[in-house]
Amino acid sequence: MTESTLAIRGARMLVNGELRRRDILVAGGRIAKIDRAVDAEAPTLDASGLVALPGAIDAHVHFREPGATHKEDWASGSRAALAGGVTTVLDMPNTTPPTTSAAALADKRRLASASSLVDWGLFFGLTERNLAEALAAQGIAGIKVYLGSSTGGLLVLSDATLDGLFAAYGGTVVVHAEDERLILQKLAGLGHAPLPLDHGRIRDVPGALEAVRRALEPAARHGGRLHVAHVSSPDEVEAVVRARAEGVRVTCEVTPHHLLLDESFVVAYGARGKVNPPLRPLPARDALWELVRAGAVDLVATDHAPHLLSEKDLAYPQAAAGLPSVELLLPLLLESAAERRLSLSDVVRLSSEAPARAFGIERKGRLEPEHDADIVLVDLLAVRSVNAAAIRSRCGWSPYAGRRLRGWPVYTLVRGHVAFGPSGYDASRRGREVTFRSAR
Ligand code: DOR
Ligand code: ZN
Repeated sequence: MTESTLAIRGARMLVNGELRRRDILVAGGRIAKIDRAVDAEAPTLDASGLVALPGAIDAHVHFREPGATHKEDWASGSRAALAGGVTTVLDMPNTTPPTTSAAALADKRRLASASSLVDWGLFFGLTERNLAEALAAQGIAGIKVYLGSSTGGLLVLSDATLDGLFAAYGGTVVVHAEDERLILQKLAGLGHAPLPLDHGRIRDVPGALEAVRRALEPAARHGGRLHVAHVSSPDEVEAVVRARAEGVRVTCEVTPHHLLLDESFVVAYGARGKVNPPLRPLPARDALWELVRAGAVDLVATDHAPHLLSEKDLAYPQAAAGLPSVELLLPLLLESAAERRLSLSDVVRLSSEAPARAFGIERKGRLEPEHDADIVLVDLLAVRSVNAAAIRSRCGWSPYAGRRLRGWPVYTLVRGHVAFGPSGYDASRRGREVTFRSAR
């Protein structure tokens, strides 16, 4: 298997920010050569008319296996990912049971190995009681800390626990930055039974900012490595940028929904738009775009959080929080490029280069020799509307249904294997666990 080769011929790719025609020779799952013509006798994939990009790396997904496979599992989630041009996912620990013990980590590794069609990495979840076990976990993407409760009930309230983590851990700490005490205070002070639009008041920007501050403080003191998940406001990004200027090793991500949806989605669809952190009013979204364009936001990750519509379209308190989008990651970003909100180089940086760098994923994130041949061949001229009936995620719906998007993946290759293409999926090969550089 390792010596199998493939020549991708006729594609264009970004060379110093410009699209140029190049052939890509793949050998043993890695990129062997990129040149104007590769004249090996390798089998050919005719990519004329298509643009080759490094496969997207979604650093924040919830694939729900084990425990909630009626919403998603590694097979369905990874198929959805491939359709969205995603070749690597990093999965969050709020499964059932949660990934908060060595046994649960081993079990999730077994499940992902058996079914994922994309490469993958796993986060370990911190609780108030498992610090030693979290620190002992090997080969993980990082340790996830929920400072506010969300789906699954993982929660760290104590600053001492957070401090102990940063004091001892050399890897990446990812925080869900919403402050639980402030959330509960706002909820108690509401004065009426909460409705969908109250979500943004209960989980407001000051509450998010306070959690970012609580995470930055020990990260700065111990020189730890911090990643702030799903920023929802310019305020959070500005706090990250200030800390970075002071030497803190901190990065942040934004979701497609915080860039492309806003509170009006909740006005239109009620609790279906419930997500943590909440969709904000339009000005926050516009300001986030500015910060993305300025490079202040490091990367885009979907926070793909599949729930069935029957679990979403309920009274606000009972409705599940979260929005799915892994299978639209590249189409949504390519549409933003078509609208000239981003350049194609920005798309690659935000969806592939930066996540590989932020998490230290080996051999991923670039179309360069020696890197894994994780390649998505996109048709920038393909125009399609998001069809809810054709959603591959088991949740079976999309908040972007009906949107016309320009630019779609045609082929998605994982380590040189065409896993998704015009004739559908080739599920004959499984994804592998990625490896992380420990020194960073
Ligand atoms: O809305 C959310 N849903 N936010 C999270 O942090 C978790 C996610 C989920 O797992 O459903
Ligand atoms: Zn999440």
